[in-house]
Amino acid sequence: MAAPYVLHMMTPLANVSPFDVNMAADAGISIIVPYTNITQKDIVGLTQDAMFSRDPRNAVRTGIFIGGRDASMALDMMDAAKKSMFPPFQISVFVDPYGSFTTAAAMIAVVEQALRKTGTESLKGLEVQVYGATGVVGGIVGLIAAQAGANVTLVSHRGAEAIQGKADDFGRRYGVKLNCVDMKTEGKENLLAKAEVVLCAAAAGVQVLSKQELEGATKLRVAADINAVPPLGIEGVDVHDNGVALPHGVGVGALAIGNVKFKVQHALLSRMQEATKAVYLDFQDAVETARGLTA
Ligand SMILES: NC(=O)c1ccc[n+]([C@@H]2O[C@H](COP(=O)([O-])OP(=O)(O)OC[C@H]3O[C@@H](n4cnc5c(N)ncnc54)[C@H](OP(=O)(O)O)[C@@H]3O)[C@@H](O)[C@H]2O)c1
Repeated sequence: MAAPYVLHMMTPLANVSPFDVNMAADAGISIIVPYTNITQKDIVGLTQDAMFSRDPRNAVRTGIFIGGRDASMALDMMDAAKKSMFPPFQISVFVDPYGSFTTAAAMIAVVEQALRKTGTESLKGLEVQVYGATGVVGGIVGLIAAQAGANVTLVSHRGAEAIQGKADDFGRRYGVKLNCVDMKTEGKENLLAKAEVVLCAAAAGVQVLSKQELEGATKLRVAADINAVPPLGIEGVDVHDNGVALPHGVGVGALAIGNVKFKVQHALLSRMQEATKAVYLDFQDAVETARGLTA
């Protein structure tokens, strides 16, 4: 009989996310252990403690989930966990800080689907603007869009310098270029006049774009919002909308994206359990899965 699957959920925060605990349970994992206030230096010890305690044949029945609210920190933790393993003890790692990897992946896949419906094959070469880019979701959604070949501008409402560090870090890690602008200095009107795709990942309950502002977005093809808490991020785009007509282009709402995010996270948790060899899952696996679901 296969050994029970054990998921060690680690976070630098004071609590692991109840959302992620429920997702793991609904994916069939019954042994879920939270570890809180974890720092980078704790990862090696915890990983080796988890891997040495199991018969090597059952190593693959052991997984680490890394959460938190900082994508770079979570990716560094995953690297530290991987580097601390060696045969035959390798265990799986899935990193999804604040659900941002699966959420951003779903957002990109749903936007690409909306683009295809209007005759545009991909994000390649498009002017993509990310609002709320200093947030963990906004940064990753910008990174994935850049990897897909878009010209990405990260927009912050508190100064370009607030976002530049993250853009530089992603540039170093993944060789992408992310432009950073301050919403107030640049002016929303000027920005929107150039936008072909808008990805709105601002804080819950914050409206970023009004209907009137969207009138000026004459090149817009798709505008997507991930905020499901009223007031929503884009006026005129309701949570369930998936292709609603805007003054220019179409809109996609938070729950149309959330529905795909939910399936992506479930699929990746299932992949950990079904693996016969350890797997290491990050936003790149999430986007591949999301694209498969929306193809
Ligand atoms: N549907 C799902 O599955 C799902 C999953 C996870 C998260 N979410 C949603 O995704 C969104 C982003 O999450 P997050 O944790 O990254 O958010 P967050 O950290 O709370 O906020 C993201 C960014 O929003 C911007 N912002 C805050 N107040 C603003 C204002 N008054 N005007 C304009 N921008 C403002 C800020 O960026 P700047 O200062 O740089 O402008 C902030 O860094 C949230 O709405 C969250 O609820 C959805």
